[in-house]
Amino acid sequence: MKVLITGAAGQLGSELQRRTPAGAEVVALDRRHLDLTDEPAVHAAVEKLHPAVIINAAAYTAVDRAESEPEQAQRVNAVAPAHLATAASRIGARLLHVSTDYVFSGEAARPYTTDDAPAPLGVYGHSKLEGERAVLEQLPAQSVVLRVSWLYGPRGQNFLLTMLRLMKERGAVRVVADQIGCPTSTASAADALWALAARPQLTGLFHWSEAGVASWYDFAVAIAEEAATGALLPPNVSVTPITTAEYPTPARRPRFSLLDSRRTREVLELQPVHWRGGLRSVLGELSHV
Ligand SMILES: NC(=O)c1ccc[n+]([C@@H]2O[C@H](COP(=O)([O-])OP(=O)(O)OC[C@H]3O[C@@H](n4cnc5c(N)ncnc54)[C@H](OP(=O)(O)O)[C@@H]3O)[C@@H](O)[C@H]2O)c1
Repeated sequence: MKVLITGAAGQLGSELQRRTPAGAEVVALDRRHLDLTDEPAVHAAVEKLHPAVIINAAAYTAVDRAESEPEQAQRVNAVAPAHLATAASRIGARLLHVSTDYVFSGEAARPYTTDDAPAPLGVYGHSKLEGERAVLEQLPAQSVVLRVSWLYGPRGQNFLLTMLRLMKERGAVRVVADQIGCPTSTASAADALWALAARPQLTGLFHWSEAGVASWYDFAVAIAEEAATGALLPPNVSVTPITTAEYPTPARRPRFSLLDSRRTREVLELQPVHWRGGLRSVLGELSHV
């Protein structure tokens, strides 16, 4: 099975390559080699490489910056996936596209299912929602959209690596405790995508996250504890819970964005670990570099 990974230099794109299963032949293109906003280049690359499956891990992911750069977010998150869907349909390829829990408003009191109506709060969420709709509408029989939540891993830019840096530099951090979701490692998301790639009969919308529930504050406390156990941080880092109102950001974020992944677990026969176990694995990797 030939698989084209786009956005290959991102945290998920690089993890997908590292977790390539036996039998998959991967061509991985980062933005320098394939800019997805360049429509002719997208068509040329897909026609030349002729993959059976395209996994789109590219995105404009700067949630706050998107508020002041809406056109750029729109081009990458909404328009580019449509180019990929058209290119995939021309050669009969499947398209696995990645989206986010930030398509939801956060008003729910139980985990969001794929039947729940999205209502994004910010530019990033709006642009991602448009991208997922374009993919599903243009390529209904050959596409999958996987929404994942709170992605982090050992590379790139993410909450874990930011916390480790700040905790090391300052010895104390203040973290919002009133936004609830589930941290999900890039390893776990990559495994779910590879499992989707291996099941050509699957189409439509899916949710994926690790097991458990957390606030960003819970996640930060766990990072401080687990990193101290692994000697990545001193044992005395202080983590203080604060409210969203005390940490104003340009973009509004959902206060509750837990994804209900039960159907995905069943169809993919995958049991996610609890997010704290996922965190231990990533920290274990970091302590060996
Ligand atoms: N990060 C999260 O917390 C989170 C949470 C939920 C869902 N997601 C979704 O998960 C997916 C993977 O995100 P990630 O965390 O791996 O993001 P990431 O680390 O920011 O990687 C995204 C990659 O896309 C590339 N890219 C941007 N514009 C491009 C373009 N025009 N053409 C080709 N590539 C382009 C970026 O390249 P440059 O660096 O050169 O711009 C970057 O390498 C995305 O769909 C994202 O929306 C992320």
